[in-house]
Amino acid sequence: MSRVLIIGAGGVGRVVAHKCAALREVFTDICLASRTLSKAQQIASEVKGEIEIAQLDADRVSDTVALIRSFNADLVIHVALPYQDLAIMDACLEAGVDYLDTANYEPPDQARFEYRWQWDYQQRFQSAGLMALLGSGFDPGVTNVFCAYAQKHLFDEIHEVDILDCNAGDHGHPFATNFNPEINIREVTAPGRYWEQGQWKQTEPLSVSREFDFPEVGLRRAYLMYHEELESLSLHLKGLKRIRFWMTFGEAYLNHLKVLENVGMTGIEPVSFQGQEIIPLQFLKVLLPDPASLGPRTQGQTCIGCLIHGVKEGKPRRIFLYNVCDHQSCYQEVKSQAVSYTTGVPAMIGAKQILTGQWRQPGVFNMEQCDPDPFMNDLNHFGLPWQIKEFGADEELLQH
Ligand SMILES: NC(=O)c1ccc[n+]([C@@H]2O[C@H](COP(=O)([O-])OP(=O)(O)OC[C@H]3O[C@@H](n4cnc5c(N)ncnc54)[C@H](OP(=O)(O)O)[C@@H]3O)[C@@H](O)[C@H]2O)c1
Repeated sequence: MSRVLIIGAGGVGRVVAHKCAALREVFTDICLASRTLSKAQQIASEVKGEIEIAQLDADRVSDTVALIRSFNADLVIHVALPYQDLAIMDACLEAGVDYLDTANYEPPDQARFEYRWQWDYQQRFQSAGLMALLGSGFDPGVTNVFCAYAQKHLFDEIHEVDILDCNAGDHGHPFATNFNPEINIREVTAPGRYWEQGQWKQTEPLSVSREFDFPEVGLRRAYLMYHEELESLSLHLKGLKRIRFWMTFGEAYLNHLKVLENVGMTGIEPVSFQGQEIIPLQFLKVLLPDPASLGPRTQGQTCIGCLIHGVKEGKPRRIFLYNVCDHQSCYQEVKSQAVSYTTGVPAMIGAKQILTGQWRQPGVFNMEQCDPDPFMNDLNHFGLPWQIKEFGADEELLQH
């Protein structure tokens, strides 16, 4: 018997609700809570069997504590926005339940991606005997588990990791983002950053790019970006010399983004408009297509994986450990496109590891700190099968 409270009825929340509702031997009772009740209602009407719903503003810690207690939850799966991470962690501590999220905390007024704020909860979760599992989406999430699996089974030493994220889906809009536009644009317009020989190196936003031949998708140009899993993986992978993150973008996306940036529409500082303060990026979010509406119209695939270079039994080895996911197959299964699907499925699988005791331990953890094996098995069972492609150790795979 386990009772799970899902917070956030957006694109990712829909997938988590569908997947948990289809696995009642683990998730016996489910409550989906969100700011807008009608969105939770819609999802509840689609999923298998009955789930409860509730209206909740998760910025209000006492409201979240009251809901956790009245529903008698064992675990909170937080798939609202990164702004709520700390408030929901506080509520979990007060109510005495485990916590899981898919994105690290961001203060609303600064686009900074750091685990520091959440790692600071280590002592409190440990002494309460509770677990907080951070970043159980795809990237972060599956990419961290891929690295842990490679470290455990495929390499004696890992020297270089390049995380490559390609969404080759076409939604037919001139410009749209596949997950929350505000979070997505904040991430993409931030300076690039990677870790090499113990040091962080910074690059201008989207100024460094390489081409990579993605399995089943083909040659795509990927841009160096900072991504939160670099922070934890650079600490937890032994012998690592360099780790970088790359994401592909089409020309139309980049051109629109440049124009929007140039005219100030991606700013997060308030501006005065007709006697009212507005934040340009929040206004832009209202104008852009709702990511949830992209599901029925997105065709094509995503391919996300880790290109890993290291040593096995004294010989150099280079592999790409990856998953390919098809937008239309996801839509047929859970009424969402692949970007929400590849995030929601790992959130459900991470929750399963906690609730079945496979991963449960007191403290705050990143995914690579847990045993990758049960999670990797579950990826194959629950819709995100992975594959390994071997390359010659000297092949130049990231072309200028
Ligand atoms: N790790 C990964 O691979 C990965 C990939 C993609 C996304 N993510 C993360 O997944 C999360 C969800 O993304 P998404 O695309 O599903 O976003 P979304 O479609 O915008 O959904 C967010 C949902 O949270 C609700 N919400 C916002 N603030 C709330 C509050 N204070 N209290 C209660 N509910 C609140 C929203 O309510 P309203 O409907 O009222 O606005 C919305 O339903 C984000 O944190 C994102 O960064 C992670």
